Amino acid sequence: MRKIIIAGNWKMFKTQAESLDFLKELLPKIADDHEEREVVLCTPFTDLGLMSKSLHGTRIRLGAQNIHWEDEGAFTGEISGSMLTEMGVRYVIVGHSERRQYFGETNATVNQRLKAAQRHNLIPILCVGESKAQRDAGETEAIIFEQLAKGLVDIDQNALVIAYEPIWAIGTGETCDAIEANRVIGLIREKLTNKNVTIQYGGSVKPANVDEIMAQPEIDGALVGGASLEAESFARLVKHV
Ligand code: PGA
Repeated sequence: MRKIIIAGNWKMFKTQAESLDFLKELLPKIADDHEEREVVLCTPFTDLGLMSKSLHGTRIRLGAQNIHWEDEGAFTGEISGSMLTEMGVRYVIVGHSERRQYFGETNATVNQRLKAAQRHNLIPILCVGESKAQRDAGETEAIIFEQLAKGLVDIDQNALVIAYEPIWAIGTGETCDAIEANRVIGLIREKLTNKNVTIQYGGSVKPANVDEIMAQPEIDGALVGGASLEAESFARLVKHV
């Protein structure tokens, strides 16, 4: 049985005060709903300590947005696995397209970060996906297969989540057609040795399209940016039909 995981990626949004306000509004809305679904919030590093305390005893699991591959060292601006686990973090996003695009993340560094996450018993959410130009050039499958082949070297597929996030659908309001997202996710699953890995879709998931997306047989959850910032809309995603 594959686990359904609805994860919010807050990116560089929400101060501690704002994260508390959000939580107060969200918790009663999702308290008793589909308890078998995993709900994750990947917050900025600065929110993790407070959120960890505030999430104690709730159904929500804490996630981070990045992890460095070394356990400690002279890496200004980076965060280590033990710093995250000390905060009660359980999940960490690795290889988000914004990290690849703006911060020089490569398939090789993604692989190192995935290994570090697993070494620290964190579950990495590996993001893969193609750009608009790559899709138009018919390279979607090749790009994703390369991201998987290079990213997953020596990675334990029993402690892994994958998110298919077509870059052209992220933050644009333009969703990948649910049938097409299902097709690509099916292709990703074919490449895995563990067929039970949770594979999410990400890219403009919102209340208006979540039911159609989650109705697809290959899609096991959503990684959500914009619509995870408002309690009302995020609760609706957790409660998808
Ligand atoms: P979006 O972001 O939901 O705002 O498109 C998704 C993501 O970047 O994970």
